[in-house]
Amino acid sequence: MNRNGAKFWLAVCGTLMCLLLAIAGAWAQSSASKSATAPAGPKLAEEEFKNIQALKGIPAEQVIPSMQFIAASLGVECEYCHVAHANEKDDKKPKVTARKMINMMMAVNKDNFEGHREVTCYSCHRGSADPVGTPIITDDEPRRAGGEEKKTGEAKPVLPAADELLNKYLAAIGGSEALRKITSRVQKGTLTVFGGQHFPAEVYSKAPDKRVSIMRLQSGDSVTAFDGKQGWLSVPGRVHMMSAAENAAARIDADFYFPAHLKTLYEKFSVDPGEKIDGHDTYLVVGRTPGQPPLRLYLDKESGLLLRLIRYAETPLGTNPTQIDYADYRDANGVKMPFRWTQARPGNRFTIQVEQVQQNVHVDDAKFVAPPPPAAAAPKPSTP
Ligand code: HEC
Ligand code: HEC
Repeated sequence: MNRNGAKFWLAVCGTLMCLLLAIAGAWAQSSASKSATAPAGPKLAEEEFKNIQALKGIPAEQVIPSMQFIAASLGVECEYCHVAHANEKDDKKPKVTARKMINMMMAVNKDNFEGHREVTCYSCHRGSADPVGTPIITDDEPRRAGGEEKKTGEAKPVLPAADELLNKYLAAIGGSEALRKITSRVQKGTLTVFGGQHFPAEVYSKAPDKRVSIMRLQSGDSVTAFDGKQGWLSVPGRVHMMSAAENAAARIDADFYFPAHLKTLYEKFSVDPGEKIDGHDTYLVVGRTPGQPPLRLYLDKESGLLLRLIRYAETPLGTNPTQIDYADYRDANGVKMPFRWTQARPGNRFTIQVEQVQQNVHVDDAKFVAPPPPAAAAPKPSTP
């Protein structure tokens, strides 16, 4: 009865769809297994999967995000450690080593960092299966610790206040009043994936917080949606309801009045010099709330517009980042909006170029509702 969601994940891996799903969010367990029993608490990893030893006690929905973190940290694919369609098997040596490494990492943090997750797989591996233990001699000039070559006595740059930058961003897109005159949006355009393949894409959004993006792939539609409360992903024959961490990320994307809401979304904002993005100097504004992952916003020094957003999803082993770059800002009904964005995670990225926008048109609420779990046991009751 319990369908293994990750099995499905691996089954489609290696295809474009797998790539997109990996980008869109983590695939925890299939919704079929969730809906079948409606468990009291969150299901534990060892209850959902067959051969959990090192990750015992973590929520089942965190297993795949943790695996994505491992793969990104080592710069490898799932198959580096797993046999296709049999993740529970221990017949690849790297998997056995990885399990020891998980225990080692947890012990290091427990014994040296009061249990805080300071050391992760990435601390040592840095995107390689074989960590480098000896300092490398480079052709570059030696750098001071901290990266930025600060000359002694050089004054610290005077940075504007976060409030000022957030206000400038809101003004740059046309202001709160203009923004709130728009209540729905339909965008049609082209999806370009790594490797240069193109597919049609559509995004439907509705105030205050509904959004669905549909990628029309050869193999069928790949959908990422947020209905105002719950996010979901689907491919033909499969639906995945988002985990709490995935929902939090999807909620940011779906916030129709994001530029106006921004100040209320985090308790504290700080400002740092940002890096150059696409030739533009930026300020980096970081939003923080205790107990929540931070949000990084890169705002154009000149225009004030948002050029890059980085959000994070926590896993028991480390943090998975997602970066979205916004470009090609154009006016639509008195509001400036990006006509192009590139969403990237370690190891994969895609770009959507909008070719056509309609605003304040009717968008049926049904578009945001998750389809019933296909051929599953009982129909899923609406999420409580
Ligand atoms: C570097 C090695 C490594 C990589 C890469 C890796 N895994 Fe794992 N995986 C493991 C280890 C180790 C375990 C067992 C964890 C434990 O004992 O608690 C595991 C367990 C699993 C399980 C649970 C299987 C079961 O039924 O017990 C699933 C599902 C899984 N991995 C999926 C994936 C997916 C999907 C990817 C790619 C995103 C991936 N893994 C990448 C090492 C890896
Ligand atoms: C303290 C540093 C450190 C941390 C943290 C660390 N590793 Fe490693 N890892 C190493 C070193 C060093 C090696 C190489 C050992 C060797 O060559 O014998 C290695 C080797 C491996 C290998 C074997 C690679 C191969 O194919 O030969 C795997 C798989 C691996 N690590 C996975 C992980 C995972 C997963 C994590 C996080 C849970 C992790 N490591 C955390 C230092 C680390």
